[in-house]
Amino acid sequence: MSETADRERNEEVTMDEIVALCKRRGFIFPSSEIYGGLGSTYDYGHYGVLLKQNVKGEWWRAMLQERDDIVALDSAILQHPRVWEASGHLAGFTDPLIDCKSCKLRFRADHLEDASCGHKPSKRPGEGPDCELTEARRFNLMFETHVGPVQDDASVAYLRPETAQGIFINFKNVLQFARRKPPFGIAQIGKSFRNEITTGNFIFRTREFEQMEMEYFVPPGEAARFYEEWIGLRLDWYTALGLRPGFLRVRPHDADELSHYSSGTSDIEYLFPIGWSELEGIANRGDFDLRQHAEYSGEKLEYFDQQSGERYVPHVVEPAAGADRATLAFLVDAYDTEEVEGRQRTVLRLHPRLAPIKVAVLPLVSKEGMPEKAREVFESLRHRVWAEYDEGGSIGKRYRRQDEIGTPWGVTVDGQTMEDDTVTLRDRDSLEQIRVPIAGLAEELAERLERPWQSPKR
Ligand code: GAP
Repeated sequence: MSETADRERNEEVTMDEIVALCKRRGFIFPSSEIYGGLGSTYDYGHYGVLLKQNVKGEWWRAMLQERDDIVALDSAILQHPRVWEASGHLAGFTDPLIDCKSCKLRFRADHLEDASCGHKPSKRPGEGPDCELTEARRFNLMFETHVGPVQDDASVAYLRPETAQGIFINFKNVLQFARRKPPFGIAQIGKSFRNEITTGNFIFRTREFEQMEMEYFVPPGEAARFYEEWIGLRLDWYTALGLRPGFLRVRPHDADELSHYSSGTSDIEYLFPIGWSELEGIANRGDFDLRQHAEYSGEKLEYFDQQSGERYVPHVVEPAAGADRATLAFLVDAYDTEEVEGRQRTVLRLHPRLAPIKVAVLPLVSKEGMPEKAREVFESLRHRVWAEYDEGGSIGKRYRRQDEIGTPWGVTVDGQTMEDDTVTLRDRDSLEQIRVPIAGLAEELAERLERPWQSPKR
């Protein structure tokens, strides 16, 4: 076990530095900023969209492209309200909350030690002279809305708080069309909504977020084995994409932490600047969900094995990840600063497959035909890899900008290019520069993108 496991938080970078970089380089902005912001909602800018898209793309690749036992689904965010009765969310998806009648703030009863009272000087809720705390009340985290023109009890609907239920209610459809037998999985990426009370910490916990969930349906006797297998597979996914193993750990839930449906859950945790925190949960959900939906809908949700004549309700192993939280972990793990030739540079050492832009094409100077030549090189590359052309400002400034958005390779068109059709290829991490013929550039980059990659921060 690495010595990192003994640390309480990631001290290489602060959350403020990540927030500042994301704003400065157009990854992520506070939502509704011109109106003063709306608590815990964020908008993704150009590079943020591309980075998160790559995170989701790698998840799809691992779930679908590299396996043949999992199929995709994109279910509706609005579902029949009975779904949430059956799943237990209506009754049980609650946090215990305490109000302060004096400062009018609301706190999670189980997180009081981390909260601050609204009056100055700030103390813990209940510790100030004016604090007037109520008893704890259960508060449902689902956002309620109405479907159709009439706003009454019959039209109530909820924004889904997890993507998983959309999978369970489609079990029968998928079983019929996909002609799969357990073990098989259904994977989905999509937005979920929770009226979280304890927020903050940037995109770690927001009220609107994207989940990447897969429900793996297995014969009942094999659930324990697949639960262990998926913990390993999911851990490998993060390390293959560059997260340093010493900054990851698996934490099995104690019995009193388990959700109502779970007979075993383990969190994959990352050492964020806020400390060890959940990145993804892997749960052994048993047959709870299919049985509940069968009971509430009246449909049979089971598998009949024609060969053995056996009929059973499959058990479910669920790896449930957050696309935004994974994006944050990749950003934190990649953030680095170093001094190069007397100047400080900030660099995102992202896995090349996650980097928003793979290659920047830069003319050394904006004259002597170099911009035109560089534009030509860029046009020849952009159909093969995500590329960016940049001719504004000094070459050093352009490199620093690309370093900050994590572009792994820079191609510079210089005087020699005009003579022999070669360019310099600069590596973001080692800063090594080699000369490469333009003719072989696309193949060279494609080959580099396929190579295994490890963070040089190890
Ligand atoms: N279907 C099981 C489920 O939803 P969860 O642990 O509540 O389990 C799974 O959520 C993942 O979704 C978490 O590990 C986290 O990455 C992400 N997630 C949950 N709530 C979130 C929030 N408020 N903001 C950002 N990501 C969140």
